[in-house]
Amino acid sequence: MQSSQSVFGCYSKYYETIYSDKEYIEEANFLYNLLSVWRVHPNEVLEFGSGTSKLSIILASKFDNITCVDSSKTMIDIAQKNLLKAGNDVASKIKIHNCDIINFNIEKKFDLLISFFHVVCYFNTNEELRVFFEKASSHLSKDCLFIFDYWYGPAVIHQKPSNRNKVIPTSNGLIKRSCISELNTNNSTVSVKYKINFVDRNDNLIEEIYETHNMRYLFLNEINMYAELFGFEVLKHGSWFKNSPPNIDDWNAYSILRKR
Ligand SMILES: C[S@@+](CC[C@H](N)C(=O)[O-])C[C@H]1O[C@@H](n2cnc3c(N)ncnc32)[C@H](O)[C@@H]1O
Repeated sequence: MQSSQSVFGCYSKYYETIYSDKEYIEEANFLYNLLSVWRVHPNEVLEFGSGTSKLSIILASKFDNITCVDSSKTMIDIAQKNLLKAGNDVASKIKIHNCDIINFNIEKKFDLLISFFHVVCYFNTNEELRVFFEKASSHLSKDCLFIFDYWYGPAVIHQKPSNRNKVIPTSNGLIKRSCISELNTNNSTVSVKYKINFVDRNDNLIEEIYETHNMRYLFLNEINMYAELFGFEVLKHGSWFKNSPPNIDDWNAYSILRKR
């Protein structure tokens, strides 16, 4: 299994700048809406693959007890700094565990589990996925929801991954990120090879980083199978941020499972 310390090692230093346009507030609102549609009122929230805890920090205005789990030490270091900045009222509601989800085991059940920004796709093999859903199930109380998003297989196959470039200006220079993606249909993965250059204001190359992220895309019948195996009822599959079913034009999808 790819270690997320290796996939979110050096990359994490640039993560928040690269994704500075990520819509965490919209994500939180989308979540609140889903909770209200399904009429659930969670108290104890668990987040798998919480990264720099930006979403959890927003959610702390609604929930008093949030547990974050992430295996990348460098992402968690940034999360700790974000908690400090957020202040004691917020920080006191959030506990962070630096732990691989595969090894996560606390004697506690939660009322809601979320895992956003395609964390599940880092679980590449069937066995890793099996453990991911097993951990989700064993940490949720009866009737509670597990909501997660992922790369939707039919859309990935239809659209095909492309090579992309992104340049992000910062006060000290430019972050230039390029990625080359390779589709591996025999094991439902996309190998995304990132190169990040940081150049200062005089165009001197200060740092060059290479990281490969292997992403597993998922099909609904696979999710249905893992749900069945680990005691979940499937409530919904949707296109990300929408109420409509997943479709080939939307790369990102989400599922809502309820623990039986
Ligand atoms: C794309 S980032 C998403 C972070 C956060 N959810 C967000 O929305 O910003 C994926 C995160 O999943 C974490 N991750 C990947 N595999 C993991 C594993 N096996 N156990 C725990 N965390 C993992 C990575 O360290 C990374 O922080």
